[in-house]
Amino acid sequence: MHPLRWLCRGARLWLATLVLALCAGVVGLGLSGGRAEDAGLSTPPPAGGATTVFGPRDRHILTRPAANLPQRARLDFHVGQAVFERSWVPAPAEARATDGLGPLFNAEACSSCHPRNGRGDGPPAAGGRLARPGLVLQLHPADGEDSGETDRGDPVYGRQIQTAALPGLSPEARVVVVWESRAVALTDGTVVRLRAPRFAPADPAYGPLAPGMVAAPRQAPALIGLGLLDAVPAAAILAAADPLDADGDGISGRPNLVRGPEGGLRIGRFGWKAGAATLDQQIARAFRDDLGLSTPLLPEAAGDCTAAQPDCRAGPHGTGPDEAVEVGPDLFAAIAYAQAHGAVPGPDGPPSEEAARGRALFDDIGCAACHRPALATATHGVPAALAGQAIRPYTDLLLHDMGPGLADGARQGLATGQEWRTPPLWGLGAWRTLAPEAGLLHDGRARTITEAILWHGGEAAAARKTFRALPAADRAALLAFLDRL
Ligand code: HEC
Ligand code: HEC
Repeated sequence: MHPLRWLCRGARLWLATLVLALCAGVVGLGLSGGRAEDAGLSTPPPAGGATTVFGPRDRHILTRPAANLPQRARLDFHVGQAVFERSWVPAPAEARATDGLGPLFNAEACSSCHPRNGRGDGPPAAGGRLARPGLVLQLHPADGEDSGETDRGDPVYGRQIQTAALPGLSPEARVVVVWESRAVALTDGTVVRLRAPRFAPADPAYGPLAPGMVAAPRQAPALIGLGLLDAVPAAAILAAADPLDADGDGISGRPNLVRGPEGGLRIGRFGWKAGAATLDQQIARAFRDDLGLSTPLLPEAAGDCTAAQPDCRAGPHGTGPDEAVEVGPDLFAAIAYAQAHGAVPGPDGPPSEEAARGRALFDDIGCAACHRPALATATHGVPAALAGQAIRPYTDLLLHDMGPGLADGARQGLATGQEWRTPPLWGLGAWRTLAPEAGLLHDGRARTITEAILWHGGEAAAARKTFRALPAADRAALLAFLDRL
């Protein structure tokens, strides 16, 4: 698409980006690219700075507290992690601190979808319905529709299809999937089979979705280094943006702009389309949309129940220990603390020569232009353990047009159907040892890293093309590097 047309599509919000950029005083940097390259470093610092934990890739790999947390704070971490793993029950229950589930929900615990903070189960291999809740259908306006207030979702179903309900209510729908597959030949003759899922709500309890709404599949990602990403200054994200591709490298990249928890426009950071501005906002939405629970940040008891779902609005709703919201301020603070202060896993041994070569290839063939190796967190105004850290998340937190093959047709904030936030790659090898069956990419379609790369299109088409043409030994080196992250 012509860059001007592209820019005009989100003109109103885009203007706000410029204002934000001006405030941050980084307009000059923003227009001149300013992408951080650190290919010259011979021994890269650990991925999560001082939070990094080195150790075996066992089942606790993603549930350890940041290495630099003092002893007392470790206790707080474990308390919060326990809230993440606990199952919520319907109200009224004797344990009032943990009741209030639903009435409509997708799962009973955060860890049902992010087991041990890892990635959710991918979609089922063939034809069937989703057995476990690791993938959800969010409801967004279709690309090209006037998005208006984008966070409202469908007038009847709300922001997400809830696939479970308390007794007496119907789940909103089942989710079914069919697969389309095709073969891609690499230059050396290797043939790779790619498969793409098509998800649809089946047996919808309230009739069809409103015209202009899209059911957009989203797989539950592994939860790694979230406090560090929350602590990257907005100016650093804007500095890497290059919306008009001024440096002519074929890669643009722009921040998403979404309504933050206080209502103003903020840079989006979390979720596959960077739809949430802060970690707390993402967590509050998870409580509301995935578990049906109100929080201090999103206190409305009805949650994702709409006016067209009076039985759902009527409850039962829990009251929580302070009678105001189902997840009280202390519980919310505990889980938010743990989500922010997990350790980023370090490599499980010294780098092999092959992996070191793979790291250089990652830079050379253009992966690092989006999966940006080096970022730094703010020095002030963020939690002490997360401040001033040089990190290696392998993301720029920006949106990129990834071509029609990955498009979901949904608009979220500024993000169009073809745009996705570069997912961080730190901990990629670690979560894959934890959940080897879980798929890659936003809908879990890719079974291997090779498949994931072959789905890259749009701004990443050149990188994919170079990857396809690599000799087998170079491809193996690149994969060896990625496996160690
Ligand atoms: C029903 C499955 C499900 C449940 C339950 C669930 N999540 Fe998620 N989670 C997801 C999906 C799907 C995404 C991706 C959302 C998106 O792209 O907008 C996600 C994204 C996230 C993210 C953003 C990660 C990133 O890298 O951007 C965080 C943080 C998170 N979840 C925390 C939680 C917490 C805390 C809970 C419990 C309160 C929870 N989740 C419960 C499915 C779930
Ligand atoms: C133009 C920016 C861009 C470039 C260049 C790029 N990527 Fe990506 N990458 C993305 C985006 C955006 C996604 C998410 C797409 C989706 O889920 O639909 C992604 C997804 C991935 C994933 C899956 C991550 C996950 O958590 O499921 C891997 C692995 C990956 N990229 C590796 C690479 C490698 C290796 C290269 C170089 C050959 C590369 N990427 C080049 C933007 C880029």
